[in-house]
Amino acid sequence: MRTRPLKVALLGCGVVGSEVARIMTTDAADLAARIGAPVELVGIAVRRVGRERPGVPAHLVTTDAEALVTREDVDVVIEVVGGIEPSKHLILSAFRHGASVVSANKALLAQDGAELHAAAAAAGVDLYYEAAVAGAIPLIRPLRESLAGDKVNRVLGIVNGTTNFILDKMDSTGAGYSEALEEATALGYAEADPTADVEGFDAAAKAAILAGIAFHTKVTAADVYREGLTEVTAADIASAKAMGCVVKLLAICERSADGASVTARVHPAMIPLSHPLASVREAYNAVFVEAEAAGRLMFYGPGAGGAPTASAVLGDLVAVCRNKLNGATGPGDSVYAQLPAKAMDDVVTRYHVSLDVDDRAGVLAQVASTFAEHGVSIDTVRQQGRDGDASLVVVTHRATDAALSATVDKLRALDSVREVASIMRVEGE
Ligand code: HSE
Repeated sequence: MRTRPLKVALLGCGVVGSEVARIMTTDAADLAARIGAPVELVGIAVRRVGRERPGVPAHLVTTDAEALVTREDVDVVIEVVGGIEPSKHLILSAFRHGASVVSANKALLAQDGAELHAAAAAAGVDLYYEAAVAGAIPLIRPLRESLAGDKVNRVLGIVNGTTNFILDKMDSTGAGYSEALEEATALGYAEADPTADVEGFDAAAKAAILAGIAFHTKVTAADVYREGLTEVTAADIASAKAMGCVVKLLAICERSADGASVTARVHPAMIPLSHPLASVREAYNAVFVEAEAAGRLMFYGPGAGGAPTASAVLGDLVAVCRNKLNGATGPGDSVYAQLPAKAMDDVVTRYHVSLDVDDRAGVLAQVASTFAEHGVSIDTVRQQGRDGDASLVVVTHRATDAALSATVDKLRALDSVREVASIMRVEGE
């Protein structure tokens, strides 16, 4: 084993960074044995010094991140700060100074992944980011390496723990969205400002990263259709239950049937209880991959939290250190397929449409013919009469999003339709 250590700079010392620092210290001998050389933490960049950081060597803490990443002796920079800037600038500086980078920054990778990969390749160093998607779950490396000889057609994932916790609570207790969000906040799952999670931005960034790797194509967060879960009601959850389904916020990346394009989207969807993703409870994450030769694979585990995310970061650290010692780099960006990312209109799926309608002769026929006019075939209809009106739940066969949207526009214009109460996609069948 080489005795001269590989030098590591850590950017960020929050929940994840402090776990990375702690494990690098406590497990130093094992890490060295696995890498073939010791790894030495030479600096930890933070926004504010003086804060209590148990287990973190105080003498390594600095506010000068720029000085740390431009040190000529640093071999690897670990970035667990998040956000676009200053992380992007610091990572590009690290590359220019010969350091490989391990990052957990999904927003940055989803926006500027191609530019970062190009910069890493130009500098002859690595960019690894297993922790950017689904925390501890090994997913980037299996897609990038283990499945490199296969053809992935679909990735279906629960990649946001906060929203899965909220939907699971709504499902198990009958609570409404606000009540479930309150509980998620009280338990520390949801942040004070939960927008990134509940509006689907976090999941959309992860979907972009997964789609890009799965389909060897450049996909950015801007290519991902996104709907959050704030409009999901207790009635939607109950209706899903009535048809043997559960509601999940899904990230769905698909190759089109003709193989010529891809789509990536994040939205709430009903999935049958028999689907493996239906059993993912609480704040857990899971990703279901459909590949041509491998068939169906499921990756499951904790998608957030200090220690689980640190596990993914340290796995990457070991890999990039091994590459350094071998004078090599690991797999870089693979975007050779250059498939266009299509808009939501082209997506084909099934729909659950809930309507409040007048309860009188001919209304059901009028609603049914509106679906037929737009080429949307109905699978099932459930109707329940109330005082003077009725609730009508229509589940369709597969249709394009464009056809469904046109159908719904027309339904809204019918005198007999009082309200289109909800529209939800049905996936996983
Ligand atoms: N906020 C995310 C979640 C974890 O709830 O899953 C970090 O991506």
